[in-house]
Amino acid sequence: MRDRILNIKNEAIAQITEASNSEELEGIRIEYLGRKGKINELTGNINELSSEEKKQIGILINEVKTTLENEISSKEDQLHIKSAEWFDPTIPGIKQDLGHLHMITQAIQEIEDIFKQIGFVRRRYPEAEWDYFAYTALNFPSDHPARDEMETFFIDSPENKKYGKMLLTPHTSSGQVREMLRVNSKPPIRMLNIAKTYRRESDASHNPLFHQFEGLVVDEGINITHLKGTLEYFVQHFYGPNIKVRLRPHNFKFTEPSFEIDTTCTICEGKNCKVCKEGWLEQAGSGMVHPNVLKAGGIDPKKYSGFAFGWGVERALMMKSGVKIPDLRTLYSTDLRYLRQF
Ligand code: DAH
Repeated sequence: MRDRILNIKNEAIAQITEASNSEELEGIRIEYLGRKGKINELTGNINELSSEEKKQIGILINEVKTTLENEISSKEDQLHIKSAEWFDPTIPGIKQDLGHLHMITQAIQEIEDIFKQIGFVRRRYPEAEWDYFAYTALNFPSDHPARDEMETFFIDSPENKKYGKMLLTPHTSSGQVREMLRVNSKPPIRMLNIAKTYRRESDASHNPLFHQFEGLVVDEGINITHLKGTLEYFVQHFYGPNIKVRLRPHNFKFTEPSFEIDTTCTICEGKNCKVCKEGWLEQAGSGMVHPNVLKAGGIDPKKYSGFAFGWGVERALMMKSGVKIPDLRTLYSTDLRYLRQF
């Protein structure tokens, strides 16, 4: 009897050691420790024994039971079954911190999408650019003070014989003649150049780095109504369907005629508020491409005409959100308490 018990014990331990999952382990528990299991079967035979033997076998059987229970439970631990059983799928998960695109990037994507709908293709042109494309090709006389007025950053590097000094482009207009040359001076052109621009200015309303988007359309028969229609389409999709556009005569070297673009105030919708001037906001510059600029791009101004506009992304963004940013430079800060709001 004693040997049978010890054999059963060893057999059970061998099986427990080899068990590789909780189902197997449960099977072993039932086989040996269950109500009709091998251990209980043995206790059925105990009546044949003398009372002294009964006592000793009883003790042994209890020992074996405890040993097997302990073995099973430590094997369970080993298989991490215990901890797995503690897994509660109803406990709320830990929320991961999610980032998002910077609001300027969001605005750029939105602007690009709006213009894409009417056939504008986004292009990128150098930020470190030649004076020629930023000024000379745009009809600025070589000694024109604009290079200073625009607070240009010049790069301390050798001049190019044809293109002059190198600079950080102060406006996206420097992409105009580059685009004309890219298409081998063969219109139609419908370009949107969105890029970083740089000027030596830093105060509450200026950051040395900012962004502009520039539209350029060149084809046969392009006139001011195309310019105005395009601008109306943009502002109504960007700011809202009730926003109106007004073109105010101005002077830019690279357009003739030139206009400043005003829109009805995006905050009060034209009623007159603290942000606007009698219901209007100054937004951007535009005009009909100057014949000399077309010529610099190898395009015949007698056959083709075009319009262009240049707009600040930061300004457009502020006017859209209605958020008055007391210091524009905070837009570029890395303070998450600020950035998370957008
Ligand atoms: N480049 C001008 C600026 O940065 C804005 C501008 C004015 C762009 C008139 C244009 C334009 O394309 O036609 O101030």
